[in-house]
Amino acid sequence: MFKINENYLKLQGSYLFSAIDKKVRNFIEENPHRKVIRLGIGDVTQPLAPTILKALRKAVDEMGEKETFHGYGPDLGYEFLRKAIVEKDYKKRGCDIEIDEIFVSDGAKCDAGNIQEIFSIENTIGVCDPVYPVYVDSNVMAGRTGTYDKDKETWSQVTYMPCTMENHFIPELPKKAPDMIYLCFPNNPTGTTLTKEQLQRWVDYGNKEGAILLFDAAYEAYISQEDVPHSIYECEGAKTCAIELKSFSKNAGFTGTRLGYTVVPKDLKCGEVSLNTLWARRHGTKYNGAPYIIQRAGEAVYSKEGQKELRVQIANYMKNAAYISKGLKEAGYEVFGGINAPYIWMKTPDKMTSWEFFDYLLKEAGVVGTPGAGFGPSGEGYFRLTAFGSYENTVEAMDRIRKL
Ligand code: MLT
Repeated sequence: MFKINENYLKLQGSYLFSAIDKKVRNFIEENPHRKVIRLGIGDVTQPLAPTILKALRKAVDEMGEKETFHGYGPDLGYEFLRKAIVEKDYKKRGCDIEIDEIFVSDGAKCDAGNIQEIFSIENTIGVCDPVYPVYVDSNVMAGRTGTYDKDKETWSQVTYMPCTMENHFIPELPKKAPDMIYLCFPNNPTGTTLTKEQLQRWVDYGNKEGAILLFDAAYEAYISQEDVPHSIYECEGAKTCAIELKSFSKNAGFTGTRLGYTVVPKDLKCGEVSLNTLWARRHGTKYNGAPYIIQRAGEAVYSKEGQKELRVQIANYMKNAAYISKGLKEAGYEVFGGINAPYIWMKTPDKMTSWEFFDYLLKEAGVVGTPGAGFGPSGEGYFRLTAFGSYENTVEAMDRIRKL
């Protein structure tokens, strides 16, 4: 009789955003006349920018002609895209990253989930708490768990680094270093971030302790303040301790189009073994690359016109973020984030749990957010709203919340 991977049985019933979606669908079924405004999952709403769409259409046409048709692409991504990434995301910022350190994929979520495969099952994990659930769930699936503490809802193989208003959402360096540390800055879900000096401390710690940093920079395009790093490789020594995950979802509206990349520097080694070689082997074996047409669309993201159009899109989302922050503050809530990230993190009122507040907001205002507890134990008592809605919906949602 076959056996299943029993680690899956250790997971919570369903993925956070699927659980929320189910609750919202039930609510809509019971209240078909109510207009529900979704500010829950961080999904973009503005259409693809004209320059990107043009590149996509052109690539589609190429696929219809014998002379310009493309079959399997190179394992690690087309050179035209990897070259644009290196030039515009790294060299321009003074980061010494080369083309063969870039691995193009169909998104940062997959890479964040898959990257743990090249590491030993015995490694301990460090995550900020609250945290993007994929980091923990993918390690639980692999069996990197230890024992479960029911009261704290934590795994013994995972070090949870609390990020709360008391420490300004800045994780402390753990006394006992975990082997693999996930960092996401600007942060999902708190919308807060680290300065370059604060991130440098993590890089120094990683190098000193022999820990690997898995740095998720999915929200980098939303940074508005000067001293906030856009890439971990802006910090000295990061190439010997950090892998960086990047996404086109939030900076270019590719949530439905799917494109991302991971940087694994060649200097990153475990003894004599190069992690770049391991990830290349994994990529080549299990993945056939993001579609040609999508990679061409990705290339257009870096064009002058593309950049100009995307700056407008991001400014629109950040206008929503400012509107939500201001509205919530005026309504008497404690509010964080929303300056370098499209997420607004707020304290729930009257000591409500985050799921109680979720139900309350849905029932009374028809507004969907994300309960902080879904991101980890320290998320309890907090709630996340996204700035990715349309401006009209954002304004309407805030009107409804103000009236509560
Ligand atoms: C979120 O809402 O946290 C994100 O959109 C989820 C994701 O990027 O996968």
